[in-house]
Amino acid sequence: MKVEEFRSHAHQLVDWMADYLAGVEEYPVRSQVAPGDIAAQLPATAPETGEPFTALFADFQEIVMPGMTHWQHPGFHAYFPANSSPPSVLAEMLTATLGAQCMLWQTSPAAAELEERVLDWLRQALGLPEGWAGVIQDSASTATLCAILSARERVTDFAANEKGLRAVEDLVVYCSAEAHSSVEKAVKIAGLGRQAVRPIAVDENFAMLPGELEKAVASDLAAGHKPTCLVATLGTTGASGFDPLEPLGEICRRHDIWLHVDAAWAGSALLLPEQRWMIAGIEAVDSFVFNPHKWLLTNFDCSAYYVRDPAALVRTFEIVAEYLKTREGDRVNDYRDWSVPLGRRFRALKLWFVLRSYGLQGLREIISRHIELAHELAAKIANAVDFEVQVPPRLALFCFRYRPPGISDEGRLDDLNARLLEALNDGGEVYLTQTRVQDRYTIRFCVGQAGTERRHVDKAWQIIQQTARSLAH
Ligand SMILES: Cc1ncc(COP(=O)(O)O)c(C=O)c1O
Repeated sequence: MKVEEFRSHAHQLVDWMADYLAGVEEYPVRSQVAPGDIAAQLPATAPETGEPFTALFADFQEIVMPGMTHWQHPGFHAYFPANSSPPSVLAEMLTATLGAQCMLWQTSPAAAELEERVLDWLRQALGLPEGWAGVIQDSASTATLCAILSARERVTDFAANEKGLRAVEDLVVYCSAEAHSSVEKAVKIAGLGRQAVRPIAVDENFAMLPGELEKAVASDLAAGHKPTCLVATLGTTGASGFDPLEPLGEICRRHDIWLHVDAAWAGSALLLPEQRWMIAGIEAVDSFVFNPHKWLLTNFDCSAYYVRDPAALVRTFEIVAEYLKTREGDRVNDYRDWSVPLGRRFRALKLWFVLRSYGLQGLREIISRHIELAHELAAKIANAVDFEVQVPPRLALFCFRYRPPGISDEGRLDDLNARLLEALNDGGEVYLTQTRVQDRYTIRFCVGQAGTERRHVDKAWQIIQQTARSLAH
């Protein structure tokens, strides 16, 4: 494609993008296609000769768009949000246009220095400790993997890296029974084996019980295992539990266990000083991750990973191949050794654009609006005779279920709520997902899209009631 053709197509696409963002609520939130519908429209082999861009764009609209779930839709209340925003998209356009691979300071000094500065802005804005260093990872899963690998190396004095796991003790990793699946995945990738994961029981608010952790550590020590890492979660995925960092940190300090905090979703709420209760005890933490790509208007992928000791992280990953040496040496941050992949996208640009476009105040207003809307709706649901709130809102997530008078059989209620969820999502106006609370099927409701306003949440409540009542009859 010639540059002049690119210019005209790009203008056309920007118009399409602006129309999309302005009208996103006209689309069904969750894609309504069936498995195979999209693949059936795609040729089995790549074209031998090039096609005009008009053909590509027509197929994008006709084939691809029906197969998209609209995460920026104001009726999106499923999972956790994956925010985007116009300044973030504009930055991504520039990042893609520059096409820089920012593995070393020298391969784009601006990318390295902007990343360092913007992550420090965020550290201050969230109230995280002075002196921590930040780096952008592609995902919280990768950040947790980095933490577990760093913990493995610290506890073995870097012997695992040198000699492999056969040369080291039996390492174990703790997390709550509600922790995200990325912990188990990281433990497997780190070579410790799934059986090295110790799921610790939680209380009625889904928070890890420090006494249970203490017992697990004692029993591992007695059995000759080596307590290595604790992953504490702030804002668990199912029902938003918050592990208590203060007592957990105390146990970790006593046993020299690496304390990693997974605040993938909830971390953005630390922008609000009144939500900093969740980081009481943060001084004992070794590493911390949260996802601006969830709740901070920065489109996927962008995970902010902070470490107390960047040297330990770099030493865990460091490889000094001849072709990667540069004259700047350790006067600069070469982020290639701060994570698993060598190559890096220029992701700091979108964070910079977002922080400067909205300002911290603008972002705080959006997050507090989400929290307020979730609390308002939960209160309405709690007052309805035929619904119950099973998990009250913590930040902007709560869980509820339909419980019409006359049905007390728990199995029937599970089934009714599963059917309610499918009917809601098939309707296309809202999208919600489920979890299990005390082993009962329950529906999660998370407010988090930038464009979600009170009218959307009110409408969602109307739809939920109508759909539920039509199912029960
Ligand atoms: C608590 C928690 N941790 C980790 C993750 C994984 O995030 P990512 O997709 O960035 O790896 C999620 C995803 O929702 C999560 O809720």
